[in-house]
Amino acid sequence: MKLVIKDLHVNVETKENVENNKTTSIEILKGVNLELNTGEMHAIMGPNGTGKSTLASVIMGDPRYIVTQGEITLDGEDVLTMSVDERSRKGIFLAMQYPNEIQGITNSDFIKSAMQVRLGKDKHISLFKFIKEMEKSVSELKMNSDLPHRYINEGFSGGEKKRNEILQMKMLKPNFAILDEIDSGLDVDALKIVGENVDAMKGENFCSLIITHYQRLLDYINVDHVHIMVDGRIVLSGGKELIQKIDQEGYDWIKAELGIDPKINQEYLTRSVSLGSCALNTNNSEKK
Ligand SMILES: Nc1ncnc2c1ncn2[C@@H]1O[C@H](COP(=O)(O)OP(=O)(O)OP(=O)(O)O)[C@@H](O)[C@H]1O
Ligand SMILES: [Mg+2]
Repeated sequence: MKLVIKDLHVNVETKENVENNKTTSIEILKGVNLELNTGEMHAIMGPNGTGKSTLASVIMGDPRYIVTQGEITLDGEDVLTMSVDERSRKGIFLAMQYPNEIQGITNSDFIKSAMQVRLGKDKHISLFKFIKEMEKSVSELKMNSDLPHRYINEGFSGGEKKRNEILQMKMLKPNFAILDEIDSGLDVDALKIVGENVDAMKGENFCSLIITHYQRLLDYINVDHVHIMVDGRIVLSGGKELIQKIDQEGYDWIKAELGIDPKINQEYLTRSVSLGSCALNTNNSEKK
């Protein structure tokens, strides 16, 4: 399967003035291009506030964001006209940066319902198989065995909430899993467990888009492609070598190499430059 994002521009309405309730529209994504194929593992890195979570939300269908230009297609089908649950049933999954607490619905009921709608009306989940699979996943994630029976995320610690997102992913087996900072708030042991569980999903029917700030999660996940997002665009794509470079040197070198200053040098932002022609070529000051 193939998820393609083409020239995606996204605005959000914000309150300009609390007193007169005036709203203003600001552009967050300014032309994102990305192609994701099942069988591949991708990472997106980038400074705070550059639009990574916005991209994740738009792919999943968060109505707060308005797509003003561009498209998202799944095997050629328009994703932007699909409802959120249709996107989910088609195999798109989002592990949120800030998971919500939902009272009154237990984790296991929630996951079971989501699995049932995937099966359709004529088939029913075997309760025995579901329980066995749930127990296996909970144990692989080294979660407390009571967590599936509690209300979704209610009173969960930060790390438990993140593991719970991965539990949902393991049970639902999506084709495209967008994981938004699943490493934040995890202790070192949990980081290893979550990383290894994500890596174990790798396969011909699975693609992951892992949003992270740090190398430490990607030590456990074998990613094939790394993308850097700056100011609402993917400005650089390369392989794993980019992760270490960013961990050690931050983002200033990318901005310098690409001449990124939104006011002065807009044109460089729209180019996707390969690592070979940019980042390693430190002696060549000429812009590619
Ligand atoms: N619903 C919203 N209302 C107002 N502004 C928003 C909204 N959503 C996003 N923004 C703004 O858009 C920009 C991008 O936000 P986003 O959460 O996508 O960044 P990010 O790259 O995920 O950052 P971080 O690494 O800190 O998680 C920020 O300046 C943010 O304040
Ligand atoms: Mg974010």
